[in-house]
Amino acid sequence: MHAPLLNPSLLAGDHANLAASARLVEELQLPWLHCDIMDGHFVPNLSFGPETLAALRRAGIKLYFDTHLMLDEPHRYIEPFARAGANLISVHIEPAYDHRGTLARIRALGCQTGIVLNPDTPAIAVEPFLAEVDLVLAMTVQPGFGGQSFRRDIVSKITQLERWRRDRSLNFRLEVDGGIDIATARECRAGGADTFVAGTSFFKASDKPAFAAAFAAM
Ligand code: DX5
Ligand code: ZN
Repeated sequence: MHAPLLNPSLLAGDHANLAASARLVEELQLPWLHCDIMDGHFVPNLSFGPETLAALRRAGIKLYFDTHLMLDEPHRYIEPFARAGANLISVHIEPAYDHRGTLARIRALGCQTGIVLNPDTPAIAVEPFLAEVDLVLAMTVQPGFGGQSFRRDIVSKITQLERWRRDRSLNFRLEVDGGIDIATARECRAGGADTFVAGTSFFKASDKPAFAAAFAAM
């Protein structure tokens, strides 16, 4: 299992000054930033696109961009995000497209790969891809909006993914996203999760160093 990693979600940052929100993360010496990309089709919301990531790079942000594509046609947007400075690109299993080819394309462009499951998608749906990814993201809310309640029923799915990871000596990160705070992260950690996306709870935390320290100690 990887060391616990707090991964703040830019979606909950200040959209009039996203570079300042990213700098808050850098100042805490947290290495990752979760970037939520929404298309208004796969999820009923819009967020930002590759130009936002490129602008953050131009503003000097060096964080590892964990780019979560909530898109019906993610395969059409791999190049723009890789060019914009994404480090890892994760794609959902639910829409119909060439998943394997898309993961190969992400890797060919020099990025790490992730596969994502919605709360109601069973673990078995991503089982054939586990050896090809650097990260598996088990959504703990229905994607589309920040600030929703954690779905506790997902912990058993996390446990299943962790069992496959261990039994097959795989090394992918096991990420959770949605409704994560210190308490819900602990429940996920007990199931085997190691990478914790936190939007609302991170940006609302009044003592961010203490918040980050609680995750580091998980
Ligand atoms: C939800 C996004 C999440 C979101 C999480 O569709 O994928 O990354 O930012 O927000 P919180 O932490 O507020 O649930
Ligand atoms: Zn996300």
